[in-house]
Amino acid sequence: MRIEIPVTRVQRQKPRPEDAQLGFGQVFTDHMFLMDGAVDAGWSNPRIVPYGPLALEPATVALHYAQSVFEGLKAYRGQDDTVRLFRPDRNIARFNRSAARLCMPSIDPELFLAALKQLVATDRDWVPRAPGTSLYIRPVAFASDADLHVRPSRTYVFFIILSPVAAYYAEGFKPLRIRVEDRYVRSVRGGTGAAKTAGNYAGSLLAGEEAQKDGFAQVLWLDGINQEYIEEVGSMNIAFVIGDELVTPPLTGTLLEGVTRDSVLQLARDEGVQVAERPVAIAEVMAAARNGTLREAFGTGTAAVISPVGELAYKGERVRVQDGEVGPLSQRLYDRLSDIQRGRLPDRHGWMVAV
Ligand code: COI
Repeated sequence: MRIEIPVTRVQRQKPRPEDAQLGFGQVFTDHMFLMDGAVDAGWSNPRIVPYGPLALEPATVALHYAQSVFEGLKAYRGQDDTVRLFRPDRNIARFNRSAARLCMPSIDPELFLAALKQLVATDRDWVPRAPGTSLYIRPVAFASDADLHVRPSRTYVFFIILSPVAAYYAEGFKPLRIRVEDRYVRSVRGGTGAAKTAGNYAGSLLAGEEAQKDGFAQVLWLDGINQEYIEEVGSMNIAFVIGDELVTPPLTGTLLEGVTRDSVLQLARDEGVQVAERPVAIAEVMAAARNGTLREAFGTGTAAVISPVGELAYKGERVRVQDGEVGPLSQRLYDRLSDIQRGRLPDRHGWMVAV
């Protein structure tokens, strides 16, 4: 079924930045997608309009009680100039799982995909070309009732905005220094850790700020009960090469089910790497670092892509990983993933969706 979404175009296009000037998430394209939702009437009035401010009542539920969910995915310009989305079905499904956790209405996946495709097609000139760049896509739904009761809103707004981006971290593909967080926690069993919801990010800011003051890019979160097992970084999932095995924490409901995480594990399996999704104790990682069997560490995420970790600090002890350099598996997986996304390698798993 072809879903036609009405488009109101900008009068005048904004100047587009050169690819070499791109950072992350501060420049937005000419258009956005908008749609209204109501619990009793479903989603209505899908439209593409000029990017611009939203008018909100100060009593808007999302601003008070954080009833809001979002996604992050990317479009890439291939060497044949075709623009393709990477695994949008995964992000759409996760969005709807997050929405269910936050008592928000789901969005028909077909309509969601049509909105993504048509918005990106409208602003396709904004999809950058340079290596390491892409068009970051940010779908968001939020509770829009003006009502101070703590209860699920009856009305919602859904929007999608686009931002041409380069690397998320200022370090680019250089290894990051990460502090293992042993005071604050991100999520607990039964909480919202697996949902991509605003409050998870707000709650993580203080730890991140304190780590940054001490020279670290981010914190690595441990489990919320005993702070014994590794969870995720917050802006990305994490994986380690210990001995000959690629290990990463399992999806038990407290961490985000990363699309890049899943893709990287698949690519590693494809090349015969032994992969284990199992609980990873911080004690195991530190011991492996001390005895020389911690060969690589890297984060995976849509924004972060594959971000190597060059140093971990835990309870005052600092260990270097791969001598602060990019490890061979991290590099290989990054190259493979980028090649698939740019159409330079065959898309064996059917991950790419042309716009
Ligand atoms: C992403 O990787 O898309 C994220 O959402 C991480 C962060 C920028 C919030």
